[in-house]
Amino acid sequence: MLQLSTIDPFKSKLNMLVLPVAEEIPLFNDRKISAVLKKVEAFKEFKGAKDDQITYYDPQNLKTQRLLLLGLGKTSDIDLERLRSMGGRAVKKGIELGLTEVALLIPSAKKLNFNQEDIITAIGEGARLANHQFSKYKKPTHPALKRVKLILNTTTRTARFRSLVSRINTICEGTLQARDWINTTSNDKTPAAFARDIKRIAQKSGLKVDVYDERWLKNKKFGAMLAVAQGSESRPRLVVLRHPVRGAGKKAVALIGKGVTFDAGGINLKPTGSIETMKCDMSGAAAVAATLITAARLNLKIPLVGVIPMVENMPSGTATRPGDIVKSYSGKTVEIGNTDAEGRLILIDAMAWAIRTFSPEITIDMATLTGACVVALGENIAGLFTPDDTLADSLVDAGKQTHERCWRMPLPDDYKELLKSDMADLSNISASRWGGAITAALFLSEFVKNTRWAHIDIAGPAFLKKGNTYGEAGATGFGVRLIYRLLETIKGI
Ligand code: BES
Ligand code: MN
Ligand code: ZN
Repeated sequence: MLQLSTIDPFKSKLNMLVLPVAEEIPLFNDRKISAVLKKVEAFKEFKGAKDDQITYYDPQNLKTQRLLLLGLGKTSDIDLERLRSMGGRAVKKGIELGLTEVALLIPSAKKLNFNQEDIITAIGEGARLANHQFSKYKKPTHPALKRVKLILNTTTRTARFRSLVSRINTICEGTLQARDWINTTSNDKTPAAFARDIKRIAQKSGLKVDVYDERWLKNKKFGAMLAVAQGSESRPRLVVLRHPVRGAGKKAVALIGKGVTFDAGGINLKPTGSIETMKCDMSGAAAVAATLITAARLNLKIPLVGVIPMVENMPSGTATRPGDIVKSYSGKTVEIGNTDAEGRLILIDAMAWAIRTFSPEITIDMATLTGACVVALGENIAGLFTPDDTLADSLVDAGKQTHERCWRMPLPDDYKELLKSDMADLSNISASRWGGAITAALFLSEFVKNTRWAHIDIAGPAFLKKGNTYGEAGATGFGVRLIYRLLETIKGI
């Protein structure tokens, strides 16, 4: 879908050519473009300010039918996210006009403060991610574009950039796959159905897939996870994805994803206003599965395992009760103070099992774990919890690069007091109303032994009420680009 193109943009017949414009300096040293900009300037309607946009029809000397000018603001204010957003705006405009193709002029690194790879990546990502609509339940008004051409005004090293563009395409398709899974409604997404769909796609991509059912979970004594599952008619699953790499050493990175296909809260039923969007409570699972699929497709040289516990959290006559005590896979007992704190119950069993089974070098879990994290950081930033400074820095950096932002939060030892239970080793809820994202992370930390571990609470950024420049309302697919970027940068583990 994304293509790197070497066509001469001024000689080729195009439906729409997109020209990024900075406020104070020309981004392209071209006579024809300068002539157009001069004309547009005279109208005083477009200054190249951020979000400025104007369509110029049948520009003289250019063969394109339309020239879409997109403002980026002052060059000193242009960051990668602004470029990503510009790519998205271009594609959304093309879709709105019913086109099949747009061509985007890529500014040269000489004009901006980034290297050429990062510029292409950001614009390409925005364009690719915007060119997708969730169409499972209703036909979109206008179909997505068939092609987006990225036009580089340099002829050197195109081979390298071509493989870069293909990689961007594949990574974004991972994000879009995660979005589709998350947007799928819970009636079409029982653990069995979700597991089956992951298996189908994962196998096609070359991953090794195991799907374990309730009998297996009982056998292995996943007591905490089974307690959450027992209230639903839909039976739980554990999906295990493996991406082995020959000769890379045995230790893998383990990714664990919370897969609650619907979180009604259980007997502690969620009220109106909180329950409606809870189909998104498997966003961590979707991100983990999509990241592994992406790694397999791109032949990533790091061995990975994905471990995905899937349950539906429902209230019923068979549901677990507040006050029940269960024995988790690790052997530790947990008092279920609140059935709506179910994510941590399924995660501790999946993590303890993954660590015992695979002895991973690093374990990272992603989960829509707490509303408290959304209170702390808002809807656009994930909470990052890890005792490991190196891992924290790498994840924060990957977040800056991808704009899937992570903010490191503390794991204070003394707060562990709040998780004590009179009758069990631990309680699944804190004794305090406050700091809920932290106490949830501390609860998880009790089950990771000495492995390097990070927990990412994505309750805020996984699912948005409003769309933005490169995404529709609903699932964002948060985590795929973030973790893939991390894995690319920690090649030396
Ligand atoms: N799935 C929710 C967290 C959530 C909230 C995700 C908002 C996405 C958006 C989680 O299972 C939950 O219910 N957490 C409780 C924990 C509490 C009972 C300790 C919460 O945050 O209220
Ligand atoms: Mn819950
Ligand atoms: Zn939940």
